Amino acid sequence: MIQKVNRVTSLSGTVALPGDKSISHRYAMLAAIAEGASEIGHFASSRDCHSTLNCLRSLGIEISESGETVAIRGRGLRGLSTPDRMLDAGNSGTTIRLLSGILAGQPFTSSITGDESLSSRPMARIAHPLRQMGAAIESRERERPPLKIKGGNLKAIRYKLPVASAQVKSCVLLAGLYADGITAVEETVPTRDHTEIAVREFGGTVRNSGDWIEVDPDPKLRPRRLAVPGDLSGAAFFLVGAALVPGSILWIPAVGLNGRRRELLNYLMRSGLDITVENESVEAGEPRGDLRVCFSRELLQGKLPPIRGEETASLIDEIPVLSVLGAHAAGGLEISDAQELRVKESDRISAIAANLRAMGAEVAEKPDGLAISGGRPLRGADVATRGDHRIAMAFAIAGLSAGGETRIHDAECADVSFPGFWSALKKIC
Ligand code: S3P
Repeated sequence: MIQKVNRVTSLSGTVALPGDKSISHRYAMLAAIAEGASEIGHFASSRDCHSTLNCLRSLGIEISESGETVAIRGRGLRGLSTPDRMLDAGNSGTTIRLLSGILAGQPFTSSITGDESLSSRPMARIAHPLRQMGAAIESRERERPPLKIKGGNLKAIRYKLPVASAQVKSCVLLAGLYADGITAVEETVPTRDHTEIAVREFGGTVRNSGDWIEVDPDPKLRPRRLAVPGDLSGAAFFLVGAALVPGSILWIPAVGLNGRRRELLNYLMRSGLDITVENESVEAGEPRGDLRVCFSRELLQGKLPPIRGEETASLIDEIPVLSVLGAHAAGGLEISDAQELRVKESDRISAIAANLRAMGAEVAEKPDGLAISGGRPLRGADVATRGDHRIAMAFAIAGLSAGGETRIHDAECADVSFPGFWSALKKIC
């Protein structure tokens, strides 16, 4: 499907976000290994989170869905059953990497794979620690999926993360629930801590001890009734839209504002965007609040603060749309330390550079980032999304302030994280 986007005069209205993708995956997996019936409200409608639900069903878990509410009948830490087919994580890195941690703890052998994009993504980062814990893991060449995991009898390890990755951290912590002692992970760069928060909410024990995050084994996880906040990474597209289109005012209610994800707001505010956060609260350990964002002319007149170091890890999913913002800002934007973007759903550094250039921007590609010159008016173009949801949505936003028509190819890939994105966008244009 090709979605056409044209320049708009302003954006206004309310944006309804899907439930947070990262949190939904974690709640579903923990509910499945808790003892009894959980109910998760505002569960992400994203295709990725449905991949998680379908994998859990194949592991013998009863799940029913009614609108945005998902009921999961947990069977306890050791209640999963041997799947009779290969588990399919679809496009979802979070599904394959987190679930592999749980599968490594099972006394049976299972296999898990994904679509073409996921099958080309690196799994050595989870296979190494899981093997150290005693799981037998086979993969395709260069540690690509499918993964065949023979689990059980895991040893506790202390593991220093070689990459800044919440997925790897979470994989090891979830495997640690099945280990013979306290498993600990050290991260040199802080990443999203939804797993730590969620394990505690379901009754497990996760501690921060100096630089280490420790998880106790063999908890009796209790079922919960929880509501997932809106996805801040989905809000990012609309925040940047309001930053690009003069006169815009948007209201984005009930957004997840986890401290490790909130850097997006700090960054945009530091850049000069007028964002107010209202009605802040914390539910099940996850902060949330309502956002009001207004266009502010100064932002586009300057140079955006460079994105590098720890900040890159905090903004990793938002870099495609922040690059679009950088191309519009008079002084451009420099992004470094973002080599992880090369192994996301697509090589995002290359996809951003190619599509920005197609729209008339001047961009230099670096091994670990981009130097975007900025200040040139963009023109509509054919956007090759490479089937990557965040590339599709980021360039839809670029199209809102480009001259002429922008055509987003394979636009349905937005459903991977944000079903309803195209109608939400139409509603505020
Ligand atoms: C995620 C972690 C990040 C992020 C992804 C979701 C998670 O990936 O890019 O969209 O839910 O833990 P990495 O852990 O590979 O950085």
